[in-house]
Amino acid sequence: MELELPGRLYARDAELARLQSAFDYVAMSGNHALAVVTGTSGIGKSALLETFLQGLRQRPACCAAGKADQFRRDVPYAALAEAFQGLVLEILGQPDAAVRDWQQQVSQALGLYGQLAVNMIPALELLAGRLPPVAASAGPEAQEHFHMAMHNLVNAFARCDRPLVLLVDDLQWLDAPSLSLLEHLLASPSPLPLLLVTSSREATAEPGRQVPTGTPEPTHARLRRKAARVYEVALAELDVNAVTTLVADALRARRRDLQGLAALIHAKTLGNPFFVGQFLKTMVDDRLIVHRPDDASWHYDLEGIRRRGYTDNVADMVLQRLERLPARTRTLLGGMACLGRHSDIALLCAIYGIDARALHAVLVPAHAIDAVHQEEQRYAFFHDRVQEAAHGLLSPAERKRIYLSAGRLLARAAQADDRDEPCSTPPNCSRRWPSWWPTPARPSMSRG
Ligand SMILES: Nc1ncnc2c1ncn2[C@@H]1O[C@H](COP(=O)(O)OP(=O)(O)OP(=O)(O)O)[C@@H](O)[C@H]1O
Ligand SMILES: [Mg+2]
Repeated sequence: MELELPGRLYARDAELARLQSAFDYVAMSGNHALAVVTGTSGIGKSALLETFLQGLRQRPACCAAGKADQFRRDVPYAALAEAFQGLVLEILGQPDAAVRDWQQQVSQALGLYGQLAVNMIPALELLAGRLPPVAASAGPEAQEHFHMAMHNLVNAFARCDRPLVLLVDDLQWLDAPSLSLLEHLLASPSPLPLLLVTSSREATAEPGRQVPTGTPEPTHARLRRKAARVYEVALAELDVNAVTTLVADALRARRRDLQGLAALIHAKTLGNPFFVGQFLKTMVDDRLIVHRPDDASWHYDLEGIRRRGYTDNVADMVLQRLERLPARTRTLLGGMACLGRHSDIALLCAIYGIDARALHAVLVPAHAIDAVHQEEQRYAFFHDRVQEAAHGLLSPAERKRIYLSAGRLLARAAQADDRDEPCSTPPNCSRRWPSWWPTPARPSMSRG
């Protein structure tokens, strides 16, 4: 039996309430506000944003959510395009009468430079209709026109009785043009019912705390300066009490039967929820926590766990879990990490010159340790930390090969698209592996 981590958040009621009060302020005042969620990697920023977003479904709000990608920082506006494209697609899924209302509002609001917004958010054309072309401009003037178009778009979505909530996760990796756009929106002289919620692995001044990777401080500082009202939500580690409840729920056991184990997990992980999850899974992999079918419950070997001397560094633990995978799986994960948080199955098949069945077979061991999961036509990493670790599995030369290969394939697909040719199955798909793949060392992961 697989260990399933409970999907809910522990000990985050106050932080959620703070985000909700930021939303209430925007709804009541009609003015914009910034909510800043900070904390170290794995502390639960993305999970908090996700839970907040789910709660908003019960309230009148327009929500757009995007996430900056650390390996694609050079793609301008990627996170914001993702956010608005998602919102537009959601609107297009509404009943016809509602879509017609939106079409009217959006097409009226977009103004002279509306086409620039459509260029960034292709689905917007279905709401905005045909817009006049925008004469080419460059430099600050081009940026000003684009900011005007986006400001108008935000105006169309944001109303007092239905504020716009724009979530930007992983702000520390946001590209510079996106940051300028957010600053522009926060500096709006006219009232704008917009709640911008950002999260970042912000460095904290607290002594003894590890400074997270990335260079987040200036990014948030710039937004804070522009915002008229700022809600700070700093996430702290879970205390031993919350960790005990989490572990008890995961192992479906009583809290009082787990005190020793929970104290050890808390001491090792310092209450970082991502680390708690990885640690539990590692102990299950190592059969120090086992599920016994005879009494249908989980058992653990506390002495064995102590003797094993697990690392108290989360990055090492994630890397160690990946390093146990077969060589081909590791190579494939490394390639996927280069492509981003999600990798299109067709693109992966084309890069590696294999068919989808063979691809799935290589990824079975990665599935088994919960490093990746399939989402329709793509594979996604369980978490950014796993992607980061996977990225480190390839040498710089191997990464270069992946980027080159992906770039060529995408360019070819774009040309076919321009010519209106059907972009069929990727070329050269076979069940033979390219020569540069490692020879299979082990057929599957050993759980020893
Ligand atoms: N309060 C919590 N209770 C239980 N589980 C949690 C809690 N917060 C986060 N988690 C879980 O811990 C893992 C890490 O959380 P999350 O991805 O939100 O961290 P993060 O702060 O966004 O990290 P990063 O900066 O690396 O993106 C997720 O699997 C999440 O479901
Ligand atoms: Mg996150």
